Amino acid sequence: MKVTVLGAAGGIGQPLSLLLKNALPAGSQLSLYDVSPIVPGVAADLSHIPTNVHVSGHGADQLESALAGSDVVVIPAGVPRKPGMTRDDLFNVNAGIVRDLVTAGAKACPNACYAIITNPVNSTVPIAAETLRKAGVYDRRKVFGVTMLDVIRSQTFVGEKKGLDPVTLKINVIGGHSGDTIIPLLSQIGVEFTRDELESLTPRIQNAGTEVVEAKAGGGSATLSMADAGARFTLKLVAALGGDENVQCAFVEVDGQPTQFLALPVRLGRQGVEAVLDAGQLSEYEQGLFDAMLPGLRANIEKGISFVRNS
Ligand SMILES: NC(=O)c1ccc[n+]([C@@H]2O[C@H](COP(=O)([O-])OP(=O)(O)OC[C@H]3O[C@@H](n4cnc5c(N)ncnc54)[C@H](O)[C@@H]3O)[C@@H](O)[C@H]2O)c1
Repeated sequence: MKVTVLGAAGGIGQPLSLLLKNALPAGSQLSLYDVSPIVPGVAADLSHIPTNVHVSGHGADQLESALAGSDVVVIPAGVPRKPGMTRDDLFNVNAGIVRDLVTAGAKACPNACYAIITNPVNSTVPIAAETLRKAGVYDRRKVFGVTMLDVIRSQTFVGEKKGLDPVTLKINVIGGHSGDTIIPLLSQIGVEFTRDELESLTPRIQNAGTEVVEAKAGGGSATLSMADAGARFTLKLVAALGGDENVQCAFVEVDGQPTQFLALPVRLGRQGVEAVLDAGQLSEYEQGLFDAMLPGLRANIEKGISFVRNS
């Protein structure tokens, strides 16, 4: 299995690569690419850890060799938010980065799965899909927006609030990955919440990224928790590609839903998405949030698709 991290020298990329070096199956290759000149050093550094995962580092002019033959491409390349910015404010810089990286992937590893971390995920995933479609190699089972951070935040905040073990909580988060498009389905986890608890937990989960951006005071956004979430998702995807099916929430292209892309629980298997699962029954509160965010999510998706069609 070859896993390539694009943006591997960044705030997310480095700890993500560390987690993957320590947890990918023995015999895997971990390929690190970044436009930053420190990437060979990141690879050298990680290569001193005694695991059976081979690490290689690839600088700015070595994108093709970094990607060649990859099974999974994880993309945290791009700029993060500063205080006062929304994820959508990142579009102008990150849209082109994701399009160009995926264009290279379409040639170097046409059958790879893509796990997109770069924000705004609601637009960068449609950008990746449309770029692959334009190149004639799009397979909707293989393109994912990583929304795992919303899931692990939900586990943590619910655990704290209700005095429960966060590790054992299973919480689906659907919709998209920004502000009001993030819909945690707290009604489905078998825990009673008062209306007050719901109305404080839900916005906290939705705005948790901003909590970190403000606490880092201009120094970036979530990197360590995102690296953890990115590694969790990547490892589950790698396990599924190896035959160990499992269910995770991710932002994927869907049919028969109110938007073309949506975060839902999906069954992962040997080909990527084996099935997009039903979100189950939503409470009235969740349904209200879901319906209200749809126009915004549709606009984010359309913006991504138009960007590729017009470029
Ligand atoms: N999906 C999520 O839940 C989630 C959570 C947090 C952050 N993010 C997003 O992840 C992205 C990265 O955040 P970060 O904190 O690691 O930022 P960072 O600035 O610390 O790192 C980004 C890295 O990308 C590299 N890069 C820039 N252009 C590149 C290109 N064309 N090819 C390869 N590498 C390139 C930079 O050199 C840098 O090393 C941001 O867009 C951020 O908004 C997503």
